[in-house]
Amino acid sequence: GHNNLNAKLVLLGDMGAGKSSLVLRFVKGQFLEFQESTIGAAFFSQTLAVNDATVKFEIWDTAGQERYHSLAPMYYRGAAAAIIVYDITSIDSFARAKKWVLELQKQGNPNMVMALAGNKADLEDKKKVTVEEAHAYAEENGLFFMETSAKTAINVNDLFYEIAKRLPRA
Ligand code: GTP
Ligand code: MG
Repeated sequence: GHNNLNAKLVLLGDMGAGKSSLVLRFVKGQFLEFQESTIGAAFFSQTLAVNDATVKFEIWDTAGQERYHSLAPMYYRGAAAAIIVYDITSIDSFARAKKWVLELQKQGNPNMVMALAGNKADLEDKKKVTVEEAHAYAEENGLFFMETSAKTAINVNDLFYEIAKRLPRA
């Protein structure tokens, strides 16, 4: 039968982790080597067909710069899903991702579908955060985990698809 749903989704993570690049890849199929740092937040929408349902994602791409941190609750409040993004070449960005998870666990919607994305998977030779470490962390915290690359498109559609599959159906 017909099953259309709208899902507010927020991306959180350190500046430069690749949040905007993941969204640009998913929504427009593009990648920019010199993607500009986000100011405040940016809004996008994209529809995905999953089994017998159509999910319209209403996507808030937040700014990772610390001075915008206080705005984040406006974007994750009421969100059905969150993607917490880190850069696999940066230990600091992984630490920042864990802080976002803690904040969502304390203050976010308890039914929120949470995904952890280890982005820049194409930079394998500069990798600092192992799949094992990230996967173990994700399991402990009830997130699902994928390494992604906005540059090569690896796992980007799959990430959104997996979120769509996990959304509670009305
Ligand atoms: P803020 O808006 O400042 O929070 O950053 P952001 O998380 O939106 O990061 P953004 O998408 O602007 O990407 C930062 C830089 O990383 C850009 O120069 C991108 O081209 C680059 N980048 C993003 N994703 C990837 C990736 O998967 N692989 C590689 N090699 N570079 C990437
Ligand atoms: Mg950005």
